[in-house]
Amino acid sequence: MRASGRLVAQAFELMRGIIAPGVRLSDIDAAVTAFLKERGAQTLYKGYRGNPPSHPPFPGVICASVNHEICHGLPDNRRLKEGDIVGIDIGLKYQDFCGDACVTFPVGVVAPAVNRLLQVTHECLEKGILAAQPGRHLTDIGAMIQIHAESNGCSVVREWGGHGIGRNLHEPPHVSHIGPGGRGLKLRPGMVFTIEPMINAGAPEWDMLADGWTVVTRDGKLSAQFEHTIAITEAGPEILTQL
Ligand code: CO
Repeated sequence: MRASGRLVAQAFELMRGIIAPGVRLSDIDAAVTAFLKERGAQTLYKGYRGNPPSHPPFPGVICASVNHEICHGLPDNRRLKEGDIVGIDIGLKYQDFCGDACVTFPVGVVAPAVNRLLQVTHECLEKGILAAQPGRHLTDIGAMIQIHAESNGCSVVREWGGHGIGRNLHEPPHVSHIGPGGRGLKLRPGMVFTIEPMINAGAPEWDMLADGWTVVTRDGKLSAQFEHTIAITEAGPEILTQL
């Protein structure tokens, strides 16, 4: 899983060099598709069928969620503009094991309030990871995330959470991004799961677009997301999806 996570991190390094005003989401998807092929990794997203299975299969290797899109945005031929933010999520399988992460990138120069949302969301992920210590409870993670988001005037999207991950992309348990803490599984070394807070600048409510995938904020305000795949070790949480 370290090897899978490392590939995910390398894909984000690649994207960091590509994302700029004028770039199409489909160009980013094509670059990641080529990278996975070159490394012998398989996409977990292209062709993915959601729930219910009447969903159209997901069309891309990345999810690309722009501005008020919360998650599962389609990597179509829209062009990024200066001042946008774009959340890119990648899930891959390499030598039978999965890796999953998300980064929200600023496109060119973004407004200070937008930067602040990115910073608060990233801090939510960091605080959630810090809470993932052996002996603590699963919901301590969400409690830390919720406190940090709400004390900064933001809100937490509730309907999607992190998940166990291993040979399959989505395994138990569900990792909530809200409290209260002190509940759920006791964390033990060897557990591997994702933490992936979706943080809204406004209210937490959302709608799904007619494409059956894209989730947007109901109030039209911005949303950001950061995600890592982590492993619980004796020494504490280890982030697998970073270099
Ligand atoms: Co995930």
